[in-house]
Amino acid sequence: MSTLALSLAVLAAVFAAAAAVAEYNVVDYGARPGGGADSADAFLAAWAAACNHTGRRGSRPVMRVPAGRFLLSKAYFKGPCRSAAGVVVAIDGTVFAPPAVDSTAWIMFHYADGLAIRGGTLDGQGRAHWACRADPGRKCPPGTTTLDISQSKGVSIKKVTLLDSKNVHMSIFDSTGVTVQGVRIVAPADSPNTDGIHVQLSSHVNILSTTIGTGDDCVSMGPGTSDVLIRNIKCGPGHGISIGSLGGEAGEEGVRNVTVEAAVLTGTQNGLRIKTWGKPNRGSVTGVVFSRVTMRGVHNPIVVDQNYCPGHDQCPGKSSGVRISDVSYTDIEGTSATPVAVKFDCSGSNPCTGFRLSNIRLTYEDKTAQSLCRNADGSASGVVSPRSCL
Ligand SMILES: *[C@@H]1O[C@H](CO)[C@@H](O)[C@H](O)[C@H]1NC(C)=O
Ligand SMILES: *[C@@H]1O[C@H](CO)[C@@H](O)[C@H](O)[C@H]1NC(C)=O
Repeated sequence: MSTLALSLAVLAAVFAAAAAVAEYNVVDYGARPGGGADSADAFLAAWAAACNHTGRRGSRPVMRVPAGRFLLSKAYFKGPCRSAAGVVVAIDGTVFAPPAVDSTAWIMFHYADGLAIRGGTLDGQGRAHWACRADPGRKCPPGTTTLDISQSKGVSIKKVTLLDSKNVHMSIFDSTGVTVQGVRIVAPADSPNTDGIHVQLSSHVNILSTTIGTGDDCVSMGPGTSDVLIRNIKCGPGHGISIGSLGGEAGEEGVRNVTVEAAVLTGTQNGLRIKTWGKPNRGSVTGVVFSRVTMRGVHNPIVVDQNYCPGHDQCPGKSSGVRISDVSYTDIEGTSATPVAVKFDCSGSNPCTGFRLSNIRLTYEDKTAQSLCRNADGSASGVVSPRSCL
């Protein structure tokens, strides 16, 4: 054997050893695809084993869900795990929910540092729940979040499809360093409260190359959200990309450093929205960049609404205590489905400051659209149509 052939053989052996990752297949723990049998115990046992795996540094145990359809009543996957690098949940098939889940979330990962979810479909089977909600005479259980990531660091969720959630599809809560990439989220336009991704009390969140069409916000960012990058997003149908609602409760943390770039919104109720309650509760939104966004028939393409007060009660004076500053809109173009394409309706007691508009081209029925400002201050540069009211 030549030296070269020998070193190649050694190299191959090294790769083979590295490839032999510890895999925990849910079928080996009793999960059965196809039928109506609940696979929850098997999923939890496979997770417990994977989470308990102590591999060499850098090798991550894999919990595998093979091809097929698995009924999962609900699952609480809890860490911390012994594998410092985290667990990979590799899904080839579909995991589906029963018509009712007795919990606020269906699939939960808490304290799961380093978690990676790869592939597969999570089907929330929301239809029966939405039908209940549509019937005023019936008392319905609260909706269920499909995928709840909480108290975790360094999580990645790639190429997963989420369907027909009973409520929010994916919630990122009290976590840091979360990347969502190549994900698809689909539910009917008339399904209630089926937000795509909700982020709250979390930082360093990247949402990349993701397609979301549901009955509520594509992405919503709640109190305590910072350092978010949303890039290459297709949104619609739905309610658009939203910061808020904020200021609904006293003592909320603010929202800081959010970038949305290269987004296409189609037929959504809002485009880029910042929404706060018309209540005196304090809070803040600062350092927001919206750039390279295409609107196609969006009802409120650019909107700041500081007078949110459903039911019109408990909003004394309707003046928001949330300060919104340093927000820029650059290269935003396309069509508005209503005459007012830009609306900055800011708080009388806490006016919006440091708003910047640059290269805005929004039309309504092939005509010039309108802009509306209340308590908003800032500047405009380049082409700005509708004409800036800042
Ligand atoms: C975790 O691993 C230890 C040994 O390292 C073992 O004794 C224990 O039974 C394992 N627990 C589970 C749930 O697999
Ligand atoms: C803003 O967030 C981005 C994305 O997480 C991050 O790379 C950047 O450093 C942050 N900027 C500041 C000023 O914190």
